[in-house]
Amino acid sequence: MDRLYDSQLVKTSSYINGRWHGSLSDVAVNNPATNEIIATVSNAGIVETTLAVEAAKAAFKPWSKKSADERSRLLRNWYHLIMDNVDDLARILTLEQGKPLSEAKGEIAYGASFIEWFSEEAKRIYGDIIPSPSDDKRLVVIKQPIGVVAAITPWNFPNAMIARKAAAALAAGCTFVVRPAIQTPLSALALAELAERAGIPAGVFNVVVGDDAHGMGKVLTEHQDIAKFSFTGSTKVGKLLISQCASTVKRVSMELGGNAPFIVFDDADIDAAVAGALISKYRNAGQTCVCTNRILVQESVLAEFTEKFVNAVRGLTLGNGLHDGVTIGPMISAQAVNDVKQLISDSIEQGATLVLGDEKTTRDCSLSQEGNFLAPTVLTNIINDMPIARNEIFGPVSPIITFKDEAQAIALANDTVFGLASYFYSRDIGRIWRIAESLDYGMVGINEGIISNATAPFGGMKQSGNGREGSKYGLDDYLEIKYLCMGGLS
Ligand code: SIN
Repeated sequence: MDRLYDSQLVKTSSYINGRWHGSLSDVAVNNPATNEIIATVSNAGIVETTLAVEAAKAAFKPWSKKSADERSRLLRNWYHLIMDNVDDLARILTLEQGKPLSEAKGEIAYGASFIEWFSEEAKRIYGDIIPSPSDDKRLVVIKQPIGVVAAITPWNFPNAMIARKAAAALAAGCTFVVRPAIQTPLSALALAELAERAGIPAGVFNVVVGDDAHGMGKVLTEHQDIAKFSFTGSTKVGKLLISQCASTVKRVSMELGGNAPFIVFDDADIDAAVAGALISKYRNAGQTCVCTNRILVQESVLAEFTEKFVNAVRGLTLGNGLHDGVTIGPMISAQAVNDVKQLISDSIEQGATLVLGDEKTTRDCSLSQEGNFLAPTVLTNIINDMPIARNEIFGPVSPIITFKDEAQAIALANDTVFGLASYFYSRDIGRIWRIAESLDYGMVGINEGIISNATAPFGGMKQSGNGREGSKYGLDDYLEIKYLCMGGLS
């Protein structure tokens, strides 16, 4: 922290109604690469969360009445300030989350790109005129901001997951309260500092930081003044939050877990598939909802793909994300490492082969003492029924499954309750369309391992959630459609 250009970006209390709000107790923020405490933040709870909702409610009318141009200008100021401070924001992110600094810079630019995109979309919230069924009526549709939006965001993308929700909400004219993951509050609070510098009015963007996930979550899902709730996180927690939102019939958007298949067909460019699988699997140490979870390889190219892939994975450098040359950082916690180790050792017990990885890692399920590292791992002889293929791994492990033909590939790929991202590699144009249309996933990467960007609709099917973030569709979740019927005109 002492190497930041602007130390004022490090804030340690909640940001409510334009003020930094201390609490009676503190929570420590840990560096997952060293297990050192890098900061302590004031521990907000139910009271502060309720205050934030009240502030957002009071700020809603004036914010929603601002012209789209004015909201757009303020969002654009925010975008520029974030990009001007990318080095500091990335350093804070790596310190609290662990990903390599270059990836952290990428995340800051990615998050900012949503703010830039929605600053432009703010000016394009069009309504409709519907041809009237009778001469004495005119039918008009207008779109209006839904109201106060609450969000709970995860630790894996501590900047971008907030930016992507808040940008759309604010552009639509909504006000916003977010509870970031308690592991990574500093990135969220730095965003609040920059929102204030950008001129975003008090109460429009609020951040509440605290470890009472249950109590704060109940306020954000049950408070009657919140119109919409947005969550990124696990399917298990998402289901609970949806049920809590039912009592006040809130609009919900859920970006939940995934189990992404990465399919390599026999006509694929194998080198390109290896490069795509590497980036799609190991970015953020495998802790990404859209990360490849299962690699499905056609029998005839299995040996070639596996050899090349294992060599590529061997080339990754595991270590502290602040150090030069590190390409894969620690996992978020010792518990997370332990959970993934358990999946690896269960698979080996059920017949999987450890082709690459730390032998000791797979046997020693005790919690790590120093840094939460797990060696990049590759497993073969995986069957789709093994726990490692059924569950979202959320760690740097590649299970490889073989298949015979297209029908089997599609059946294996779709045999999951999840439906977020999927990927496949092929050069046959007919096959490309057949597979793309058959995959039950909200997003399909075709000969491409990185699919996320602000202009595209991010979201899933089945138990991976609902709603879309980013793109021209991203504002829909924050708008009410109002129908006006004007009669008596003849
Ligand atoms: C996520 O893990 O949910 C976000 C990943 C992305 O936006 O690419």
